[in-house]
Amino acid sequence: MNFSEFIRNRHSPRAFLPDEIPAEDIKEILLDAQSAPSNSNTQPWNVHVIGGQKLKDLSAALIEEFDTNGLNPDFTVDYGEGVHPQRSMELAAKMYGMLGIAREDKEARTEFVRENLRFFGAPYSALMFIPPMGDRIRAAFDQGTYAENFLLSLTAHGYHGVPQGMISLLAPTVREFLGVDEEYKLVTALTFGRADESSPVYKTNPGRVALSETVTVHGIEGLGL
Ligand SMILES: Cc1cc2nc3c(=O)[nH]c(=O)nc-3n(C[C@H](O)[C@H](O)[C@H](O)COP(=O)(O)O)c2cc1C
Repeated sequence: MNFSEFIRNRHSPRAFLPDEIPAEDIKEILLDAQSAPSNSNTQPWNVHVIGGQKLKDLSAALIEEFDTNGLNPDFTVDYGEGVHPQRSMELAAKMYGMLGIAREDKEARTEFVRENLRFFGAPYSALMFIPPMGDRIRAAFDQGTYAENFLLSLTAHGYHGVPQGMISLLAPTVREFLGVDEEYKLVTALTFGRADESSPVYKTNPGRVALSETVTVHGIEGLGL
């Protein structure tokens, strides 16, 4: 597979097998992630990797908090107006369609939120916090470069990963469980393991918009998007 095929084949499965993966592989993947670029080489990623019974206990704490008090994120979940919430709604419609969950079936949709909180059955998750640095935008960007390295390294090693912003919607519960300082804000979880290829949501294939919708070209001849 060439690099373009490789990178375009990465995808987010939302179902995992419970199988453990070798600790050496996890270490290699962490080293690959760590090689990401960052603003002034600040490397502002602060990552807690959890597996085994610890992850199950965290999942139970998250579900209890969600069922009792609801969500409590560090950062707002606001996609603004126009194309961005539209794309998000298209993804949700596709995903719920694949699961056979109707739009008006609130209980089934809530159960799928709980499935997120069960880490989709995966044996590992990396919880990604950013430190107090100004308005945190630069740290959040750097966390993103780290996360993409992580995802691509998982793919290269034959595993899968899915970022889970959903976990960050219960940030105080995660911090309390892990003993993390309140100043460290949770951006996302990156949940990983071997994917369950038999699941209807193994590959959602949400597609991407045309380049012309996201890229504007200045002064380059022949690059018609
Ligand atoms: C920061 C971030 C947070 C995400 N949070 C969730 C999540 O909570 N639950 C989920 O099922 N997918 C989540 N995703 C996965 C996206 O929905 C997915 O990347 C997007 O639809 C494109 O699909 P693909 O990864 O299969 O190419 C998240 C992705 C990112 C980058």
